[in-house]
Amino acid sequence: MKNLLLLAVVAVSATLGVAQQCLPYTERIDCHPGPFTGNNREECIAMGCTFCDADVPDWNVPVCYLPKSYGYKMDGQPEDTGNGFRVTLKRATSLTMFGSDSETITLEVFFQSDYRLRIKVTDGTSRYEVPLQVDPAQPATGNRLYDVEFSNDPVFAFKVIRKATGTVIFDTSLGGLTFSDQFLQISTRLASKNLYGIGENEQLTFRHNFDKFPVFPLFTKDTFPDGNANMYGVHPQYTVLEEDGNAHSVLFVNSNAQEFVVLPAPGLLHRTIGGIIDIYIFLGPTPENTAQQYTEAIGRTPIPPYWALGFQLCKYGYDNLETMKAVVDRTLAAQIPQDVQYGDIDIMDGNKDFTVSQDRFGGLPAYVRELKAKGVKFMTILDPAIALGEAPGTYRAADLGKEMGVFLNNSDGTIFEGRVWPSSNVGFPDFSKNATREWWITMIKEFHDLLEFDALWIDMNEPDNFGNGDTNKGCPNNKYNNPPYVPKIRGDYLPTSTLCMDIEDSISLQYNTHSLYGWLESEPTAAGVLAATGKRPYVFSRSTYVGTGRWASHWLGDNYSKWRDIKTSIIGTLQFNQFGVPFVGPDICGHQGHVEEELCQRWHELGAFYPFSRNHNAYGMKDQDPASFGPAVAESTKKALEIRYTYLPYLYTLFFYHYTQGSTVFRALWHEFPTEIATQGIDTQFLLGPGFMVSPALNEGQRSVNAYFPNTRWFNLREGTEVNARGTTLNLNTPLDTINLHLRGGIIYPTQEPALNTELARRNDIGITIALDDNNSADGRMYNDDGDMLNPTESGKYYLVHHTYANGELISTVENNGYPRMAEIKLDTIRILGAPQNLSTATGFN
Ligand code: NOJ
Repeated sequence: MKNLLLLAVVAVSATLGVAQQCLPYTERIDCHPGPFTGNNREECIAMGCTFCDADVPDWNVPVCYLPKSYGYKMDGQPEDTGNGFRVTLKRATSLTMFGSDSETITLEVFFQSDYRLRIKVTDGTSRYEVPLQVDPAQPATGNRLYDVEFSNDPVFAFKVIRKATGTVIFDTSLGGLTFSDQFLQISTRLASKNLYGIGENEQLTFRHNFDKFPVFPLFTKDTFPDGNANMYGVHPQYTVLEEDGNAHSVLFVNSNAQEFVVLPAPGLLHRTIGGIIDIYIFLGPTPENTAQQYTEAIGRTPIPPYWALGFQLCKYGYDNLETMKAVVDRTLAAQIPQDVQYGDIDIMDGNKDFTVSQDRFGGLPAYVRELKAKGVKFMTILDPAIALGEAPGTYRAADLGKEMGVFLNNSDGTIFEGRVWPSSNVGFPDFSKNATREWWITMIKEFHDLLEFDALWIDMNEPDNFGNGDTNKGCPNNKYNNPPYVPKIRGDYLPTSTLCMDIEDSISLQYNTHSLYGWLESEPTAAGVLAATGKRPYVFSRSTYVGTGRWASHWLGDNYSKWRDIKTSIIGTLQFNQFGVPFVGPDICGHQGHVEEELCQRWHELGAFYPFSRNHNAYGMKDQDPASFGPAVAESTKKALEIRYTYLPYLYTLFFYHYTQGSTVFRALWHEFPTEIATQGIDTQFLLGPGFMVSPALNEGQRSVNAYFPNTRWFNLREGTEVNARGTTLNLNTPLDTINLHLRGGIIYPTQEPALNTELARRNDIGITIALDDNNSADGRMYNDDGDMLNPTESGKYYLVHHTYANGELISTVENNGYPRMAEIKLDTIRILGAPQNLSTATGFN
């Protein structure tokens, strides 16, 4: 790397006929991120940018970059506002990247708490701001974890410094600050190369790669995982693990089409084509603290219904009810636990929401009741696209929707018409309107009268349209559909596979709110499920935005049935846990493609330990439910799921911790062991909560796994034996029918006897597994409630017991006794791992 740097510094450019020092590649900010139209050099120089050949070949180094004098200068001194600063900035350059620059801007710093600050840049005009609810932090005590410093040479920059260590965690001196009508950008140097987050894109490693200026575009889109392509959700958030093990997270509140560029400085560049610059920094200092502080601000996921933690089966393309029944029957025959059966769009009449096909699924309502009597729940799907072509009086969703004026209109006032699954054109409800919310809830309730689903799955809500803009009219050519700069999104044209950007909803234009569509649909859907079922609503959504977790969970979309995708599933699940959407997982065995048996076997073993555990696949693909392969896959799936079901009380307790404290459920090893360098790049192993470690086989033909054991006490979950490895990697024999599971010492894990579904399992005896630390102590809690009531923690109707084990004595203190049925459940098993010989008996549990 040193050599590359040297090369860069001595490179010269003959721009103006005179030799000129070039900036090293690590310091360059692209002056021309769009495609050149003519001669690169001339076009670049004409803009006032610097042109210098790439000093590192094949690295996407910007050849046309911003001079260091580009940016703004402070106008006077920063004004102390009591809990922050206000700085007026004047543009210090005539160079314009995309025109319409704001000459004067105001940067405000708000010290929101000891661990949270906000930096907001506006230009005094009324620009769009994301209607994001940001909840207050704990009030400041005066012991702020950070300082802010400003500089003005050669142009304005600011730094955020962690006081305790002096680490600079945000530093805009890399340059490039731009605030114009349709192009805003800001860069920061990073405190380390341990950068995680930014989504939703397929990421091949959890920790980012700093080579070659990778670009991560964000703009909600229905697309298969494909490199860095923008996918279903938008989470402009990242976490950095600093060199010394402290961590911080940063959120860019923006919903326009945008992108991040990972810079070799190391740094990060954020470009967006609208809104304002609005940044929140969360100082941790532990990795878990950053997740807790982030979700304190954006909202947390309520505890899911208990049954939703069970195993779920789905497929797009059941021919008819008999095919669906056969899947449930063979799963039961193989004694594989199943909690949820789904009906995808094929249960609908002509793919129309809120209908059930009489020909193929006429008996479904009765079957759903039958399933429920056995403890199996039923879920189904809604797309936002509503068929408009049915005769008046024949399709209530469209009739009532038109009557209530719920559909988005083109700028000429006609209903915007797109194409999705139904055979006629479709309209897209405007979920930013109250009338739409009412209509949607009414439709969900009426649908529930027809089919007693337990929860809903909302799909295609990027929103997806099979054409580009209106089916009949396309989109007008204007500054919203064709802005001067388009981030490197799929399709290059903003209306690709979606709506026109000049469509107005009650918040703003689609140009600004496009990526909020699924987010806006989530709350009304949760309200609809609650109104229909009277139970704790459970919704999961393909499209998500910052704060979606308040109302909905997520699955990782249309992955492939490939070994690559089993690996990226761990990364995606880790990311969404950092994004505050912990109840997440991929389609087990993959959505696209005919899965091979070995991959599907491994995937079911791993799938038993995603927070959200669902097997789902695409239309036309061969069956991949675990019983469809024969005894080997069925047996190993059953074994893995029985362990999941045994530890469901632990998993449920982790969701309690998420909701009440913001902790992650599916956790990277470095979240618990941040100073162990080996953990920082691990994304092939993970933890459930602080202590349940999973080390799966993720490659074809693999029969052993190199698993890292952080520097503490570990036990083999099945055998209870201690692992003689700490702070080192061990090669674990991993036969095809087994997944490696280890318990960290120092924790007490609640358990319950498994059964074929959670309704049955919840009646079984409970137990605890006490895994001891070096002091022969352990600690842990078990949370429980009735499993599907609304707001159990708010109403106090829950049970919480705190177990501590020390000096050979177990003490169990009931901290909340608001779930009376706990008294009927027997504590049957106490398992102690790592105990010295002479144990005393456990006492005091009630
Ligand atoms: C796309 C979703 O991603 C997929 O899961 C679903 O099966 C199809 N739509 C059909 O509804």
